Amino acid sequence: MVNTRFVRKEDWKAVMSLYNAWRTEDGSSAVRDSILSLKQAKKRIVQILKSKNGFGLVAEQKGKIVGFIEANQGGFVKTHHSMFVNDIIIFKEHRRKGFGQALINRIIKITKQKKLKLIYLFVASNNKPAIKFYLTCGFKKTGRIIKGYKFGNKYVDKNIMCKLL
Ligand SMILES: CC(C)(COP(=O)(O)OP(=O)(O)OC[C@H]1O[C@@H](n2cnc3c(N)ncnc32)[C@H](O)[C@@H]1OP(=O)(O)O)[C@@H](O)C(=O)NCCC(=O)NCCS
Repeated sequence: MVNTRFVRKEDWKAVMSLYNAWRTEDGSSAVRDSILSLKQAKKRIVQILKSKNGFGLVAEQKGKIVGFIEANQGGFVKTHHSMFVNDIIIFKEHRRKGFGQALINRIIKITKQKKLKLIYLFVASNNKPAIKFYLTCGFKKTGRIIKGYKFGNKYVDKNIMCKLL
């Protein structure tokens, strides 16, 4: 059974493993940032927990964290009606089992409860699995920022995907 819950301070190690596994994945189109250190991972969780508009969720299987998502409600009056999904990562061995969908569904539920109007996100145009996943979750491709990402020396377009509620 898929369980989702809000991230807790003690989840920093699992969240760090998720980011680092993704960043070193073969053929990954992930932003090749440096590997998250223990200190950075702890700091990130604390930032999320302290944030007024942001929150993180984890997906669990049998009490073990298998996925993470972070989202932020727009912080300005002009963006307050929107929810931005920052990152979603599922451990490779747990993909295609519905964990990603469960996390997005929870974000949709929270966004509806807050009576917001839309959820949007950015995804690298070469991240085909993620784009297919978001399309399945009801997002639409609404725009493209040419050369919006730089991975090493390579520029990749940034797709904007949006779900109106
Ligand atoms: C994108 C990601 C989060 C999807 O998570 P997931 O748990 O595997 O997704 P789900 O199992 O909930 O998939 C739901 C549906 O989305 C679609 N989908 C998901 N992954 C897909 C893939 N690789 N290819 C085609 N369709 C896919 C399918 O329709 C799937 O339903 P099905 O398995 O019954 O056919 C996961 O692949 C991941 O962590 N990728 C690496 C990190 C990443 O790129 N994040 C996005 C950053 S913008």
